[in-house]
Amino acid sequence: MEIKKEILFDKVLKKRRSVRKFEPGKTVSKGTLKRIVDCGRWAPSGANTQCFDFIVIKDKKMIASTTNIFLKQAQRLVDFAKGFPAVKKTYLANTVAIIIVLGDPRWKVCFPHASTKDYEEEYSRNNDAIFLCSMGAAIQNIQLGVAAEGLTSAWLSGGGEDTTNNELSNLLGYPKWMKAFGTIPIGYPAETQDKRYRRPLEQCLHWNKYSPMQYRTHKQVDFYESTLRPFAMYRDQEKIENWKDFSEKLGSWSDAFTKQYSNVSGKLEGDEDFTKPRSKGRTTRRRDKNSN
Ligand SMILES: Cc1cc2nc3c(=O)[nH]c(=O)nc-3n(C[C@H](O)[C@H](O)[C@H](O)COP(=O)(O)O)c2cc1C
Repeated sequence: MEIKKEILFDKVLKKRRSVRKFEPGKTVSKGTLKRIVDCGRWAPSGANTQCFDFIVIKDKKMIASTTNIFLKQAQRLVDFAKGFPAVKKTYLANTVAIIIVLGDPRWKVCFPHASTKDYEEEYSRNNDAIFLCSMGAAIQNIQLGVAAEGLTSAWLSGGGEDTTNNELSNLLGYPKWMKAFGTIPIGYPAETQDKRYRRPLEQCLHWNKYSPMQYRTHKQVDFYESTLRPFAMYRDQEKIENWKDFSEKLGSWSDAFTKQYSNVSGKLEGDEDFTKPRSKGRTTRRRDKNSN
């Protein structure tokens, strides 16, 4: 019996794919949606604050209005976040429900706060991390719950953009200072998508100590951003080496993306300010040029 449970868990874990194509004309019961939200309720959260709320949009008119908001959000990405491989969000119209995971920042007061000036920034920054990680846990639990019900979903972060959050708040009636960190369209998959590119386990797994040979260099990040990203995000393949155009796409980067050691020299790069993305991949360079 135990073994069966493990197999089931593995199945659910891998069925939790971001699917962006749903079968039209389907419905789902309130009971199913309640069970899914209950998975979110059981997520861990900093200081058990449960700093999230879940709005389940099931009414057809409300789904249509929410879809409209996200169509505009996607167009803004095309116009003002050039180069990001966003997909059209018309598929939202075929969802059986959309769950909005709202974050309530007041609960950050319950996380550790500095009692001396020296530590104010340090604790404050980590409070933000605790809050956002709690949100991530709730969103992921919802997605896993969806997969366990035999349905599928996507994880949309655009509701967290101020313009979109304001529009959602007007539509759904929550205070503007709460934020729609996760928007999860749910539906019946119109195509099977149970695979997605993942790094080899031995490359991201470090035993006892960080292994510098498994470090991914700045240039590797740049290469992903400028070249691989749209394929790695959307193709239905786990192993990049199974891509038909693997050699063409990867070129001299093939080992770094498929083998344990992405950095055979074992040399790490120095400190930099990573509060803003440093990537100088082709897309970033083009964006920088356009904004100058
Ligand atoms: C924090 C976060 C934000 C994301 N935002 C979006 C989004 O706005 N739109 C979208 O289509 N997918 C979004 N995704 C889904 C990722 O693109 C997806 O998880 C990734 O490509 C891996 O695919 P998989 O979920 O099928 O494993 C987001 C995922 C995370 C964790």
